[in-house]
Amino acid sequence: MLKAIYGTKDVLPKDVEKWNFLESTIKNIFASFNYKEIRTPLLEETGLFSRSIGEETDIVSKEMYTFQDRSETSITLRPEMTASVVRAFLEHSLSSQSSLNKLFYIAAMFRQERPQAGRFRQFHQFGAEVLGSSSPLLDAEIIILAYTILKSLGLVDITVKINSLGITSSRKVYLEILKEYLEPHLNELSEESRKRFEKNVLRIFDSKFENDIQIMKDAPKLIDHLDDESKQEFQVVQNILRSEQIPFLLDSSLVRGLDYYSKTTFEIVSDKVGSQSALCGGGRYDGLIELLGGTPNYGVGFAAGIERILLALQNEKTKLPDNSSLDLYVVLLNKELLNEYYLFATALRKNHLKVEIDYLSRSVKAQMREANKLRAKFVALFGGEEYAENKVVLKNMGTSVQQVLPLENADKEILLSVGS
Ligand code: HAM
Repeated sequence: MLKAIYGTKDVLPKDVEKWNFLESTIKNIFASFNYKEIRTPLLEETGLFSRSIGEETDIVSKEMYTFQDRSETSITLRPEMTASVVRAFLEHSLSSQSSLNKLFYIAAMFRQERPQAGRFRQFHQFGAEVLGSSSPLLDAEIIILAYTILKSLGLVDITVKINSLGITSSRKVYLEILKEYLEPHLNELSEESRKRFEKNVLRIFDSKFENDIQIMKDAPKLIDHLDDESKQEFQVVQNILRSEQIPFLLDSSLVRGLDYYSKTTFEIVSDKVGSQSALCGGGRYDGLIELLGGTPNYGVGFAAGIERILLALQNEKTKLPDNSSLDLYVVLLNKELLNEYYLFATALRKNHLKVEIDYLSRSVKAQMREANKLRAKFVALFGGEEYAENKVVLKNMGTSVQQVLPLENADKEILLSVGS
């Protein structure tokens, strides 16, 4: 039997309601913060990601879906959106139209990771990117926005972790200090961390090996070697978060898996999703626009994983609103009225009622069973003696109260009854 590709999954109708609820909540909140939606292609030139995310990162070195197309161009299915948004920002000179661009997206991403709970090869992110301002107000806004969305979706058990990675020059000095500290411990580190020592020493903070974790506990922290500007801006961010009553933890070992970050970085984690606990991550990336060929400009953003959020909601036993019930099921009593029956339902559908009818020539009993299964609020019994008198019976399935309505204004009466 043909199956979906390993690590990808179908969203079946029973789950689509949850996705729709998430997407509409997310869009409403982005609108209230005045973020505009952007959509970019799934395919990009590979160089966009290797330059921005970084050659030595796990994403670029191990996880990208990269192939040569028929004209020998190296193409990659996007593993994240920040690089694509910055590419679009530069390509369409968005900064000349508006000096500040507040953008959001909800889109599919692709990473060839080992699938497990909360980790897929095709997954979906919603996120925001603000291009054009260095104000720490926006670093705070991005965190507040992410936190507000997660809370509005019904999540309770979440923790915000923040850190500052400083500007490139102060980070360079610190990286030498970190290397000096690690040198005598090199033989004790895991093989993976020894590799990172050469290529991306900061990422050793992310190691899952117990011995590495112990060694990194006593390592000098970047936060103690920040430049004055980063320090001061990080204070502003924290002050705003405190005034907005967003609880947060300072986590000096929070290093993100992508190279473009500077200054504020953050993650929001859930205790309810096992090892893949990061629901969302982001931060400032002031050097990225220049790195991709633009005139120096500022950027800050975040992205959150929808599948992981759904898993956290499920594990928190949060009940999501369910709009799948039906307003009205029309039961056909006499088969010879098929045409009139169909027109009756269509007229109600034009009034935006959620209406279902029988397409399978079922018995009246089977149609009533179907109406119950579809959780119809009302059932109309179309045909029989009432039809001969130009009437139709409307039954309220909650109260079992029946009304007999004249056919010519049945739609208005049903609309009134369903609405009340
Ligand atoms: P990221 O931390 O790589 O950041 O991904 C953000 C979120 O996407 C993660 O916290 C997680 O919820 C979800 N995610 C990542 N990989 C997977 C996967 N394989 N399966 C399911 N969910 C996954 C970024 O992507 C940055 N672009 C965020 C950003 C935007 N920074 C600044 N602006």
